[in-house]
Amino acid sequence: MPTLLLRNIRFLVLAETAPQPAYSGRQMQNIPILEDAFLLIEDGRIMSFGSMEACPERADEVVDASGRAVLPAWCDSHTHLVFARSREEEFVDRIKGLSYEEIARRGGGILNSARRLQEASEEELFTDAWLRLKEIITYGTGAVEIKSGYGLTVKSELKMLRVIRRLRAKAPIPIKATFLGAHALPPAFKADRKAYLDLIVNEMLPRIADEGLADYVDAFCEKGFFTVEEMDRVMEAGARYGLKAKVHTNQFNSMGGINAAVARGAISVDHLEVVSDAEVEILKSGQTIPTLLPSAPFFIGGHYQPARKLIDAGLPVALATDYNPGSTPSGRMPFVLSLACIKCGMLPEETICAATINGARALELEAELGSIAKGKRGSFILTAPMPSLAFLPYSFGTDLIERVYIDGQCRVDKRSVFLD
Ligand code: NIG
Ligand code: FE
Repeated sequence: MPTLLLRNIRFLVLAETAPQPAYSGRQMQNIPILEDAFLLIEDGRIMSFGSMEACPERADEVVDASGRAVLPAWCDSHTHLVFARSREEEFVDRIKGLSYEEIARRGGGILNSARRLQEASEEELFTDAWLRLKEIITYGTGAVEIKSGYGLTVKSELKMLRVIRRLRAKAPIPIKATFLGAHALPPAFKADRKAYLDLIVNEMLPRIADEGLADYVDAFCEKGFFTVEEMDRVMEAGARYGLKAKVHTNQFNSMGGINAAVARGAISVDHLEVVSDAEVEILKSGQTIPTLLPSAPFFIGGHYQPARKLIDAGLPVALATDYNPGSTPSGRMPFVLSLACIKCGMLPEETICAATINGARALELEAELGSIAKGKRGSFILTAPMPSLAFLPYSFGTDLIERVYIDGQCRVDKRSVFLD
């Protein structure tokens, strides 16, 4: 069994002797950090860690991590990284003054991506998504969720989910698939919304469940998209096939989506740019993880998520990229951490916690990933030398991810770039 030893680690982050499924409230800024530490991986799993005084003498491979931090790989619990084409023309329209919602009302937005995806072959979609997947691993992502939702027909939703299945079969990192048939109402159903909901519930879901193509079900609960009642119908139907909910809600309006999702035992409620005090109380009463996607308001404008209000209320917050062609054409988790500090008032340790263990919890992967704990997968980030952990989100835009290890294997190594 091959062993890998990292020595002289300056900061070993989220090194847990008593693993927790998630961190809530004040715990998020008090994550366990070991200084001057070692980490031993055996056969792709974390075997042991501790202070350098107790460092083992030998291993098959030894890495000197002097001055560097080792963090659990990011768990990006919300993306739409299977899509047909970029939408930079809408980006230009927004610069000229149109809003994201106006663009959607004019048939752009999600419907624009749906038209393009319906025309694309499974092969093309796979090839492009595979490049995006490899790209996010270079940023340190070690687990990811990917949604459908640009198909909006039985055939194209299945096509998207099959692409995700192929990605899952080939990828070195775990992938969770989410069925998002209720992403936008296709124009053909404008006069009969119920017929589209019937299609989701009676045709799409049974086929998807039959082929085992999804782990979760999602709906976009928002004015101009789907109502709380429609989302609830989708969640209820998903539950009949054993699919828990992870939903888009409270992006532009607070309409009751959080209440409905918590009542259904949703794994997560995502976006949350707009959250009322009453909704904070609802979240406190349940197990649903509030998942914040600050790159969306960064890119399309609008409110940043009220992270302080959620964390100070004692909740476990997760952070994810929302990588998609419309509201966030970026899967760069380190930038999300910087935004969460700069625009949402989160502390550096809180952002690391939200992007690792709490993200893992939002993917139900917390027993395997999200922290440095004995027996978990050896998937972690080795940073460049850093004076402090805060240096990571502080240095927004600078790539401080030097290496990425997945199951004990170095998959990304940027140390080999020498210009002098
Ligand atoms: O999470 N808000 C809904 N869905 C995506 C954006 C989809 C798109 O614009 O293509 C999101 O932001
Ligand atoms: Fe999204």
